[in-house]
Amino acid sequence: MTHNDRWVSIREARQETSVGKTVEVRGWVRTRRDSKAGFSFVELNDGSCFGNLQVVAPGELDNYAEEVQKLTAGCSVVVVGKIEASPAKGQATELHAQSVRVLGWCDGETYPLQKKRHSFEKLREWAHLRARTNTFGAVTRVRNQICDSIHNFFQENEFYYIQTPIITASDCEGAGEMFRVTSLDLDGLAKSGRPVNYEWDFFNKPTYLTVSGQLEAETYATALGRVYTFGPTFRAENSNTSRHLAEFWMVEPEVAFFELADNMRLAEAFLKRILTDCLQQCDEDMTFFEQRIAPGVIEQLTRVVEQPFEHMTYTAAIEVLEGSNESFEYPIRWGADLQAEHERYLTEKHVGGPVILTDYPSTIKPFYMRVSDDGKTVAAMDVLVPGVGEIIGGSQREERLDVLRRRMQEAELDMDEYAWYVDLRRFGTVPHAGFGLGLERAVQYVTGMANIRDVIPFPRTPGNADF
Ligand code: 4AD
Ligand code: MG
Repeated sequence: MTHNDRWVSIREARQETSVGKTVEVRGWVRTRRDSKAGFSFVELNDGSCFGNLQVVAPGELDNYAEEVQKLTAGCSVVVVGKIEASPAKGQATELHAQSVRVLGWCDGETYPLQKKRHSFEKLREWAHLRARTNTFGAVTRVRNQICDSIHNFFQENEFYYIQTPIITASDCEGAGEMFRVTSLDLDGLAKSGRPVNYEWDFFNKPTYLTVSGQLEAETYATALGRVYTFGPTFRAENSNTSRHLAEFWMVEPEVAFFELADNMRLAEAFLKRILTDCLQQCDEDMTFFEQRIAPGVIEQLTRVVEQPFEHMTYTAAIEVLEGSNESFEYPIRWGADLQAEHERYLTEKHVGGPVILTDYPSTIKPFYMRVSDDGKTVAAMDVLVPGVGEIIGGSQREERLDVLRRRMQEAELDMDEYAWYVDLRRFGTVPHAGFGLGLERAVQYVTGMANIRDVIPFPRTPGNADF
């Protein structure tokens, strides 16, 4: 993959099997320590793994006094040398340098990431540099692993990956929390006092950034059977919490000939696959989270993988909450939406693990969810997990033409705008179901990171779209 056969990643250089090889590594200095015996230790990281490679730079190097002894955190270097077994604890190998070439200096006075630890709040101001820290390197590798597991899980289970539009005219969740997309000159219109007319807009009608690819995914599920869409979604909800972003990534599988119980089994197997892969593939990063961010996280996730998820209806959950002696901020009432504090009580205190809540009142769920025989609830399912609350939301979809039409009228949807969606019920309708997993909440769950702003490279939240 490179014209230079000697160049290896630090991940590879750290492996015992590399001992004896002459290699080149390229990376950024984390620390330098000079020994009285006339040589220096340079800790190098290139992002390929959590751990650093210890470079032993002998005083005989041409540029030892001129350059090596001036290396500081952040400098970029190319080192050629021989990998030896390391006598030091916690590392199998070290690199005995034959040459150290400096590519870029890094001014220690002005570089913000000095050895001192910074708060995550402070690091958000340096979102362009925070990827260089231990925590954000580890988060990034785990996030990548989760994305890989998502594709692998669905591909192995015969799902097709489809791409649904980002610009859309439909409000899937019906919550009206959409960002508008327009090419109209709104400033000019305001100045001239003329009204905004969306017929003159780019698409000749109002359009928005999508809140979910579900409705479009349904069109492909009712043709190809099993599909998933995975992309960015946007919500203009004014929630300044540690679990909400205005731009987040969601993976949404949609399956034909599927009912609620099938959907729950799929969600459980899917989530367990993600956890298993992270525990197995990201062991160094997970050990870091265990030691520095969320003590107990490895054992907790291991236990989750081994045990079946609990199931509970919304109605049963309300009874549990009413029977608890907690003083909640929001009142508990059948028919009211569960708040984060309720969800966390159920999963953290009552169940002590993941719980799938089902059969929510139809009045608090979107129009597309299948109405149950009782006429009051819908075939909805939310997966709640400790520390995060809702991680997955899904349902069986309403496949009956007449019931869907009625629900759409109740929701006051524009029937013309959704005619294509109704067609799926007019032509060969089938029971089908699906769900959405918020990628960032999954990363939070696996890593134990408290704030969702710290598990996405560049968070978008109310009042903040820097970088
Ligand atoms: O429960 P939600 O709103 O469900 C849907 O969008 C369905 N259309 C999914 C489907 O059935 N295909 O969102 C799904 C998940 C939530 O459980 C949560 O993990 C995440 O998306 N999510 C958010 N993550 C970060 N910031 C936000 N503002 C989020 N809103 C939802
Ligand atoms: Mg939801």
